Amino acid sequence: VTRSTDVFSSTALRWSRSKDPFLWILDQRLLPQSETWMPVRSTEDMVEAIQTLKVRGAPLIGVAAALSLAQTALRGTRADVLVQEASRLRAARPTAVNLMNALDRMVRFVRTNPDPEAIAGEALAIAWEDVDLCAKMAEIGASLISEGDGVLTHCNAGALATAGVGTALGVIARAHGLGRRIHVFVDETRPLLQGGRLTAWEMGKLNVPYTLIADVMAASVMAQGKIQKIFVGCDRVATNGDFANKIGTYAVAVLARHHGIPFYVVGPHTTIDSHCGSGKDIPIEQRDPQEVRGAQGAFGSVTWAPAQAPVYNPSFDVTPASLVTGWVMDTGLFDQDAVRNGALRMGHSSAAHPR
Ligand code: MRU
Repeated sequence: VTRSTDVFSSTALRWSRSKDPFLWILDQRLLPQSETWMPVRSTEDMVEAIQTLKVRGAPLIGVAAALSLAQTALRGTRADVLVQEASRLRAARPTAVNLMNALDRMVRFVRTNPDPEAIAGEALAIAWEDVDLCAKMAEIGASLISEGDGVLTHCNAGALATAGVGTALGVIARAHGLGRRIHVFVDETRPLLQGGRLTAWEMGKLNVPYTLIADVMAASVMAQGKIQKIFVGCDRVATNGDFANKIGTYAVAVLARHHGIPFYVVGPHTTIDSHCGSGKDIPIEQRDPQEVRGAQGAFGSVTWAPAQAPVYNPSFDVTPASLVTGWVMDTGLFDQDAVRNGALRMGHSSAAHPR
C-alpha cells in the first residue's frame, strides 16, 4: 500500500502539504458541543494543545508531536534546533510514554538524516503505523467479545485518542462491525469527562448502542449482571504488566475482580516502557485543582466547590497486573502467564523518561 506523504487525515488530526500550516487538530475540549478544527503553527501551539487536552490520548499525542516537529523541519529549521524543539514537546505531559517514544524516534532520525522531506516522511510513517497498530488490536480484541455482551469502558480510547480506530474502543467498534449485538456502558470519567463527552460522541457516530453512566454507577451495573467484559486503554505499560490509564481505571479493575468480570487492557507496543519494571516507576501527572472544583468546557464553566478547596487531582492511576485478565497488544493477546514470562519485555520502547 502506498501511503500519501501529502495528506494524512484521521478523526482528530489532519496533515496537508498543500496548506501552511500543514497540521490541524480537532479541538477535543469543545466536543461534543462543537466540532472545531484549529491549526497548529508552532511547537508552542502543540505543547499548549497537548497540555490543555485539545489533542489527547496516548498514541495521538505521540503522532501529533511528531507531525508538529516535521512541520517545523519543513520550514527550514536547523537539526540542532529541531532536537531542542523535540525536548520541549517531549516534556508537554509526563505519563503517556507514546509521546516520549515518538519524539525519541524522531530525534534519532533527525540526527542521522536532517533532510526535511525525510523527517516529514518519518513523522508520517509514525502516523500510518499507528493506524495499522490499531487495526491489529481491533482484530485480536474483537474475538474476545461475544454476541449479546455488555461491555464497559472508561475514559476515551477511541479514534479521538489515536491516529486510527482506537485501542479499547477500536476493539469494541470492530466487534460491532462484525455484526455482534453488543451494548456498551460508558463511564463518564470525571474530572474531564472523556467518557461523557468523547466516547459517547464516538459511539453515536458509529451507531454502537450505548448507555452513559456516572463513574459511581459502575459497581451497581456490574452487580446487576449487565457487564460481561471490560476493555480499557493505557498510557504507559510496565514490563511486569502494571499499567497507567485514566484515573478511575484502577477502581474499575477492582470492581471487575469482585464481580468476576474479565478485564482487558488494550494498547500498542508503543505504549510499553521497557524502562519501567513495575507501575511504581510510572510518573503520574497532577493537574489543575480547578478541574475538580467544578467543570469547564464548551458547555460552560461552573465551580461548585469552595474557591480555595484543597484538591487532589492525579490524571492517571496504576492498575496492577494481578487484576488484568488479558493484555491486547498489536503483537498478540497475552495472559498472566505470558506476561510473567516476559511477553511485554519484547516491546520496542527506548524511552529514557525524566523521573
Ligand atoms: O488525559 P487523556 O484524555 O489524554 O487520557 C487518555 C487515556 O487515559 C486513555 O485511556 C489512554 O490514552 C488510552 S487511549 C488509546
